[in-house]
Amino acid sequence: MMNDEAELPEHVRRNRVHWDALAAEYVGPGERAWARNEPAWGKWGVPESKLHVLPEDIAGKDVIEFGCGTAYVSAWLARRGARVVGIDNSAAQLATARRLQREHGLELTLIHGNAEHAPYPDASFDLAISEFGACLYADPYRWVPEAARILRPGGELIFPTNSALLTLCQPEEDGLAASDRLLRPAFEMYRIEWPGDMCVEFHLSHGDWLRLLRRSGFEVEDMIEVQAPEAGTTRYTYVTLQWARQWPSEEIWKARRRRQ
Ligand SMILES: C[S@@+](CC[C@H](N)C(=O)[O-])C[C@H]1O[C@@H](n2cnc3c(N)ncnc32)[C@H](O)[C@@H]1O
Repeated sequence: MMNDEAELPEHVRRNRVHWDALAAEYVGPGERAWARNEPAWGKWGVPESKLHVLPEDIAGKDVIEFGCGTAYVSAWLARRGARVVGIDNSAAQLATARRLQREHGLELTLIHGNAEHAPYPDASFDLAISEFGACLYADPYRWVPEAARILRPGGELIFPTNSALLTLCQPEEDGLAASDRLLRPAFEMYRIEWPGDMCVEFHLSHGDWLRLLRRSGFEVEDMIEVQAPEAGTTRYTYVTLQWARQWPSEEIWKARRRRQ
């Protein structure tokens, strides 16, 4: 496993420091999400019954969550009968996940590591999922082929992430919300570092996601553009309800590994 700090790519090392430092802020939200029966997605908490993110029948399936953080998505899937592995780059986030796993009496396998190199043989899983996890902070040109490698033919990849449009409209200044102005070029969108922030994010245009997924062996089945609910609330300051009612602040990609 790629856990020797010196061997980790620079963005993974930086994101490890960032997420270890931020983990305390994710304890409360993680506890609330673990306590939910019905999954609720993203910064607006849109219910599963509205978005239909998860496959209908997941019981008995092998699932891996890429960048599980406090592992509430893993918990939702384990409660539906899946065998779940969560891999995360932050030991501090995993400490919360381990405590909540004990408190809720659920069996998850939690691994400290980089999702760009999952310590599993080819074709080990039926579903790979990443909720604002590795899909936002790992290099897509590394983690998408890795997801393809460890998925069985016909297996599914699902990842909710921030929308390309939101990224184009996001001011660099901390705490400022997206406006209706395009603030950066759409072409060659890839690695983004917000000033004064340790973390490194990755964002692709829709065309680049499509080409990468197809080249890696996936067929794209859906891309849900999430609209915030009418009276939605969020703890995040980088997007307002007014914005997210008009434009998608999040997008959920669903792809299937070709059977060949
Ligand atoms: C916004 S959190 C999302 C996770 C979860 N949904 C939550 O809210 O706790 C992002 C997570 O992705 C993890 N992460 C970032 N880069 C990663 C990588 N290369 N491999 C595995 N996990 C990664 C971080 O450590 C962090 O826990």
